Amino acid sequence: MCGIMGYAGKKEAIELLLNGLERLEYRGYDSAGVAVYDGKELKVSKAKGRLKILKRILVNNKKIKGRIGIGHTRWATHGKPSDKNSHPHTSTSEKFAVVHNGIIENYASIKSFLINSGKNFSSETDTEVIAQLLEYYDNGNTLETVIRTLKDLEGSYAIGIICKDNPEEIIAAKKDNPLIIGVGKNENFIASDITAIISKTRNIIRLKDGEIATIKSNEISIYNMNKDAIKKDIQQINWDISAAEKCGYEHFMLKEIMEQPEAINNTISPRIKNGRIILDEINFSTEYLKKMNKIFIVACGSAYHVGCVAKYVIEKILRKPVEVDIASEFRYRDPIVDKNSLVIAISQSGETADTLAALRKSKQLGARILSIVNVVGSSIAIESDDVFYTWAGPEIAVATTKAYSAQLAAIYLICICLGEKLGKISDIDYDKYISEILSIPQKVQETLALANTIKEFSKEKYRLKNIFFIGRNLDYAVSMEGSLKLKEISYVHAEAYAAGELKHGTISLVEDGTLVVATATQKSVLCKTISNIEEVKARGAQVLGITTKNNLNLQKICDFAFNIPEICDLMKPSLSVLPLQLFSYFIAMLRGCDIDKPRNLAKSVTIE
Ligand code: G6P
Repeated sequence: MCGIMGYAGKKEAIELLLNGLERLEYRGYDSAGVAVYDGKELKVSKAKGRLKILKRILVNNKKIKGRIGIGHTRWATHGKPSDKNSHPHTSTSEKFAVVHNGIIENYASIKSFLINSGKNFSSETDTEVIAQLLEYYDNGNTLETVIRTLKDLEGSYAIGIICKDNPEEIIAAKKDNPLIIGVGKNENFIASDITAIISKTRNIIRLKDGEIATIKSNEISIYNMNKDAIKKDIQQINWDISAAEKCGYEHFMLKEIMEQPEAINNTISPRIKNGRIILDEINFSTEYLKKMNKIFIVACGSAYHVGCVAKYVIEKILRKPVEVDIASEFRYRDPIVDKNSLVIAISQSGETADTLAALRKSKQLGARILSIVNVVGSSIAIESDDVFYTWAGPEIAVATTKAYSAQLAAIYLICICLGEKLGKISDIDYDKYISEILSIPQKVQETLALANTIKEFSKEKYRLKNIFFIGRNLDYAVSMEGSLKLKEISYVHAEAYAAGELKHGTISLVEDGTLVVATATQKSVLCKTISNIEEVKARGAQVLGITTKNNLNLQKICDFAFNIPEICDLMKPSLSVLPLQLFSYFIAMLRGCDIDKPRNLAKSVTIE
């Protein structure tokens, strides 16, 4: 949820810390701060608000100089956004400074214990107990002191620590939150994610839960909780640096929308060889597949909406029952999961706390876990039995677009591959599906050419206060994503309804001028959706239809229509979602919203 950056090297730390934090702002942006050892003291500077506020303060205050430091960009959990609650937090004597991502669940009891032993707290955060506890346990050996402190902490953390008495090194540790070490030449880094350091190094070490690292400018050592040294491999990252930049687009979101042909192609093409889907990463035997009697899909946000599409696709092709669950609900109900269940966890970041918890619960119940994630080596990936990586590249905008599309592509590939294994797809249909799936990137490209038309349409509609999204079957699943996208970034109230359900209540909200966005691409229910469109029109609604080029009947009854290319019904969500993404984007732009960083949201939600 929060972003951590640390630097140990020969250069001025401040500049490098701010540079890294800028790329981590998507993880939280209600306050930011840095701590740097200046040769004598730990100098801390922190401020409520966006990173640019901290930058302004630091420019005016040139005194913070030093070659080792830690920085943080925050998404508040314990204690409101304020200067005091911003990280880094220091111990009473200002000997230790700490940045933290996660939640210390037993912080209240530790805090009262420390207050009784004379520590003065200056924030409302859970994090401050770490700094104070370090000082309490300080035995002169920083590594031992950190290990002792970690033993008292319950909850989740990725932390970076610097200590005035040991000013050459940063100590980092993690449990249930991401943290990587960037390995440079005469300089090393810690960061919540690769985007923060990719312009400095492509060599990284991934810390695992329970590992502690000491990082100096030219030495990295890693230990377990018993203080035994651990040998770790350095991993090479081949992400393109430009992927982490805006490349001339006004917003990352628009850039990522336009990158969808590539993101889908990267996900699909390496897995189709000579007309066959080859999923090296998924080792399901036909025997296992036959025994597997139920599929659960757990996810949050847009990834959950991919799950809603997947339910229709899987049930249609595999003829196995599918339950789609919001991960935060699944983890606290009593799902009937057993060893014959397959649980599919979908997550862009691979770090979403609720999805991870749902995965762990399913594992305990004996299920096999297949995850679909975008970030290699993320927690969800590590804990799954099988991992399908979407190769959408880094996604920076908080509202997902290209990762959503890559996840849909993943579902199609997995489903067709397993369907064939189970003998549920004829050879003719298999070949048809392959050629349809291979056509998606090109058809996505064609659909994105609607951007200007959608922008013009948005100019007429951006002042609306309420918008309804309706659809049936797969069109309903896509409508949910369209509605969420609009809400997230433009703050316009939107509701997605199964078109047939409108008449059971919601239609009372439709009045003269209400905009209803009707996604109507599925042939089997088209005439039913047309009736629902007539119903809302009869009550004064204006209807925007999202349909296929050949669907003239629907285009005729709608006030406006955006037409997508023809493709088989099951894969239409890959195209019909695009006008909805663009519509949300332009509405938000015209309303002057902070599109890449919508208020109150964060890209990676690593808390409950
Ligand atoms: C946050 C983001 C959403 C995202 C959801 C799940 O709420 O704002 O856009 O869909 O998390 O994230 P994940 O990384 O698990 O896909």
